[in-house]
Amino acid sequence: MPGTVVIGSQFGDEGKGKVTDFYSDKADLVVRYHGGNNAGHTVVAHGVTYKFHLLPSGIVHGKRILIGAGVVLDPRVLKKELSELKGKTDIGIDPRTHIIMPWHNLLDAGREESRQKIKIGTTKRGIGPCYADKAERIGIRFEDLVDEQRLNEKIDEVYPIKKAILEKVYEIKVPFSKEEVFQEYSALGKEFKNYLQDVSLEVSDALHAKKNVLFEGAQGTFLDNDFGTYPFVTSSHPVSGGVAIGVGMAVNRIERIIGIVKAYTTRVGFGPFPTEQENSVGDYLVENGKEFGTTTGRKRRVGWLDLPMMRTSMRFNGFTEIAITKLDVLSGLEKVKVAKSYKVGDKKIEFFPYSNKGIENCEPVYEEFESFKITGKEKKYSDLPETARKYLEYIEEEIKAPITLISVGPGREETILK
Ligand code: GDP
Ligand code: IMO
Ligand code: MG
Repeated sequence: MPGTVVIGSQFGDEGKGKVTDFYSDKADLVVRYHGGNNAGHTVVAHGVTYKFHLLPSGIVHGKRILIGAGVVLDPRVLKKELSELKGKTDIGIDPRTHIIMPWHNLLDAGREESRQKIKIGTTKRGIGPCYADKAERIGIRFEDLVDEQRLNEKIDEVYPIKKAILEKVYEIKVPFSKEEVFQEYSALGKEFKNYLQDVSLEVSDALHAKKNVLFEGAQGTFLDNDFGTYPFVTSSHPVSGGVAIGVGMAVNRIERIIGIVKAYTTRVGFGPFPTEQENSVGDYLVENGKEFGTTTGRKRRVGWLDLPMMRTSMRFNGFTEIAITKLDVLSGLEKVKVAKSYKVGDKKIEFFPYSNKGIENCEPVYEEFESFKITGKEKKYSDLPETARKYLEYIEEEIKAPITLISVGPGREETILK
């Protein structure tokens, strides 16, 4: 698998954690390269459920894990996730990784509250404000966190600005002093100092030595800061190009790009969703698929699989293969539908419009399939009912990438390789 990246093809929560865990047994390194603890990745192995927000899912297999420069890292969350693993950790963190400071969470909440018309429905984990500081060049990086003097200088410079904005613009009283922040974060820096590692270099050396490196994407393609449904997006780059920038490596080091496609669509937070089903089908999918957010517990919005979205996702990501997840959740429905195109007036379109205005006018045109029953016990492709195979083969043909994995349940063993 030398350089393999796992990408969310939709709006996130496609099952990236499960697929990353599945392929981690053959990996030498498992790497997160963008986003932060806005992610919620679930792994179910040997009957135990693990939920990760920051650490790569490869940790369940005991692999060495790396956090690349493109991630935004909340050290409080790192401490919590590491303590839950009781020391079973071999981890490296890039010095260039930006740090989520406590003011970022407050700013995220303040900004969201103050939005009049357009609310995003962020996870309030401080992700947007931290990436904004990085772009504005006032961010605090991991190399600063682990160096007391630099951390002190940085906090000295940034704290008064953030306090003024929080109090004067958002009318939020800042519940911590500059000194308290320094005390807590310098202690965290001391604790994590040994993890400092040039991730770009380690990954490059590993790939040259023909080792297997698995890159675990977070969020999903249509939450991409440039190519998603802006402004209803996150602040990083979930598309496959994000891996090169997020790690510090050449684009051509990636050999496999696995698109994770949920057999239907879900979305958490606001923003366009052409195939959304706010009806009994939607209720069924929420209940059968346990569609509640891993990070915020919010009920996910649900709808049918959307091929104009998938063709566009293919264009943005260049999937070399597809992993279909949650096929079992469609069991028990009367009919299974998939949007094959959109109708705009009397025009047919086959791609996802670039603007939300355009999406508003799109009416999905559906293809219907006979329903099927999946038990989770299927081991081979041929064990799947013919009606389910028809559905999969249709998707494969329309996206124009081979389906190589089919997930029929949350557990590691509920996985079929094709
Ligand atoms: P991620 O953010 O892409 O890693 O996905 P999440 O972990 O947030 O959400 C996916 C949810 O679906 C988790 O609860 C998984 O345990 C679960 N899951 C993954 N694959 C399957 C599957 O094939 N069938 C069912 N029923 N659940 C699955
Ligand atoms: P995983 O990795 C689903 C959504 C939020 C919100 C928008 C912006 O588990 O697939 P942010 O806090 O990032 O500024 O929120 O993006 N969002 C996700 N939705 N899965 C995720 O991650 C998400 N990470 C962010 O709900 O709409
Ligand atoms: Mg998730």
